[in-house]
Amino acid sequence: MRIGALASGTGTILESLVDAGLPISVVVVDRACGAEKIAERAGIAVERVVRSRFDEGFDRGAYTDLVVAALARHEVDVVVMAGYGTVLGPSIHERWAGRVLNTHPALLPSFKGWHAVADALAAGVKVTGCTVHLATLEVDDGPILAQEAVPVLDGDTVETLHERIKQVERRLYPRTVRAFVDTLDARGGRPGDEGT
Ligand code: GRF
Repeated sequence: MRIGALASGTGTILESLVDAGLPISVVVVDRACGAEKIAERAGIAVERVVRSRFDEGFDRGAYTDLVVAALARHEVDVVVMAGYGTVLGPSIHERWAGRVLNTHPALLPSFKGWHAVADALAAGVKVTGCTVHLATLEVDDGPILAQEAVPVLDGDTVETLHERIKQVERRLYPRTVRAFVDTLDARGGRPGDEGT
């Protein structure tokens, strides 16, 4: 089983996957970021597929094809998103249908999108959390694999709340990815579309 990870940030979620001993063969990043250092330290190959445009001229399809090519070079069976800052187009979901996982710092279907923690704080909810789900073309919308609640405390800022959520993600995501790949392995690598 070979896993490809996608990351753009500090890489602490990626680090939790690495520390759990998951078989990550490559880390693909869309910019220079801390996640590259985590990968290098662990001896994992890094592919930087730079996203050079953030305006309307961004060719999402062509960019996604480059990410797919980078992952394919490492013959990955499963893709895990670990704080990836670019929404990808259809080709990744076609190539790894039902095998792209994501962790999101809110209890989906509430607070989708990049500002989930700030949005939860602004809404005044007393409980938020994190969700591990299968990624689909629709952002933060695929089938839910695992969720855990996290309390919002008086005086929380986006930073303190996000860190409390990430502490849970660093436990929940590796465990859920492990269960997912073990199930896939038990099926001989075939996706779960047989039987009940
Ligand atoms: C996590 O909260 C993840 O859910 C979100 O981005 C964050 C990544 O954190 N999509 P880090 O850069 O790995 O610390």
